[in-house]
Amino acid sequence: MKVCKATVVLVLLCAISHTAFSAVRNGLLPNGNFEYGPKPSEMKGTLVLNRKAIPNWEISGEVEYIKSGHTQGDMLLVVPEGAFAVRLGNEASIKQKVRMIKDGFYSLTFSAARTCAQEEKLNVSVSRSLEPNDWGILPMQTMYSSNGWDSYSYGFKADASQIEIIIHNPGVEEDPACGPVIDSVALKLLSLPKRTRANLLKNGNFEEGPYVFPNAPWGVLIPPHIDDAHSPLPGWIIDSLKAVKYIDSDHFHVPEGKRAIELVGGKESSIAQIVRTEPGKEYVLTFAVGDAKNSCVGSLGIEAFAGNGTTKVVYVSTGSGGFKRAKLRFKATQWRTRVMFFSTFYTMTSDNSGTLCGPTLDDVKLISVRTPPRTRRA
Ligand SMILES: *[C@@H]1O[C@H](CO)[C@@H](O)[C@H](O)[C@H]1NC(C)=O
Ligand SMILES: *[C@@H]1O[C@H](CO)[C@@H](O)[C@H](O)[C@H]1NC(C)=O
Repeated sequence: MKVCKATVVLVLLCAISHTAFSAVRNGLLPNGNFEYGPKPSEMKGTLVLNRKAIPNWEISGEVEYIKSGHTQGDMLLVVPEGAFAVRLGNEASIKQKVRMIKDGFYSLTFSAARTCAQEEKLNVSVSRSLEPNDWGILPMQTMYSSNGWDSYSYGFKADASQIEIIIHNPGVEEDPACGPVIDSVALKLLSLPKRTRANLLKNGNFEEGPYVFPNAPWGVLIPPHIDDAHSPLPGWIIDSLKAVKYIDSDHFHVPEGKRAIELVGGKESSIAQIVRTEPGKEYVLTFAVGDAKNSCVGSLGIEAFAGNGTTKVVYVSTGSGGFKRAKLRFKATQWRTRVMFFSTFYTMTSDNSGTLCGPTLDDVKLISVRTPPRTRRA
């Protein structure tokens, strides 16, 4: 899987590191799905005995190497990617050194499942970061998908050409068999879309965003409390209490292009972008509101806020995929305007699985309008 593209940078990297590492741009880390496991002599039951027993990874604490179909208590583990996954016990971690494009913005995506009813958390961090606190706690207490697995994303800037990626279970549970199961760890080098005259918002169609696993039909969660410097979704801020879901057209209905956002956390699910504006000037915000064809039935609502304006759009969903367009005309009151969307209602899918769902948001455009209209000079 070490494909060297014909760009100068990569040819150089591939030449230096032809066996050990090549920079991951878009896809699984080496042994990112844990299909290569420890030798039988390096395991006791499912417990991994040696720090470096899992190829490409280094572990600390109690890490179990688990095969799909393994039962634990009354839970049957089904692994989303391949046949193996790892479980992180109390304060256990896995890490891997990855070659990266220095100063590149990356999004890390991985799949994880909870094993116990208790609140479980993961601490994701990257080493050699110039930013002192480049880590994030991803809470797993809310189940967003019905089968127990969710994919999570995390954004960061690579401050060196080699970075260590660490996934750590900070929890200490009484039952040592509790602790999240991890599978499929991937990276994507993000490009940062620019604002244009046709759209003052960056990445308004959400086409640029975290890596999506081809065989993970549950979308990718973008965790709450994400500022724009750490967003795996370039341009956008997730300042809500709950995550938003990044969805793709291979698995969901998407209004425009290949990607969109589903606001899955009711009123606690919101997304925003700060835009440069001119006070007193008028702007028009347009966007698409729909349903992702995921049995999210009933009245779905999105409220949009910008400048002196606000609008509430209700879309009645039959759960079969569709959308409508909405518009908000507003006057900017400051040099910076926060364009914000949130979901009006809490909704669950109609399949009784308890999966949270909500309206999709896509194709968000912001343009300035002249007031009053002037005649153009040649
Ligand atoms: C998360 O990991 C980072 C880096 O290893 C560490 O500095 C930080 O204290 C950890 N946070 C928690 C809450 O465990
Ligand atoms: C916002 O400002 C515009 C232009 O002055 C005005 O027409 C509009 O009524 C205002 N909207 C609200 C909700 O106050």
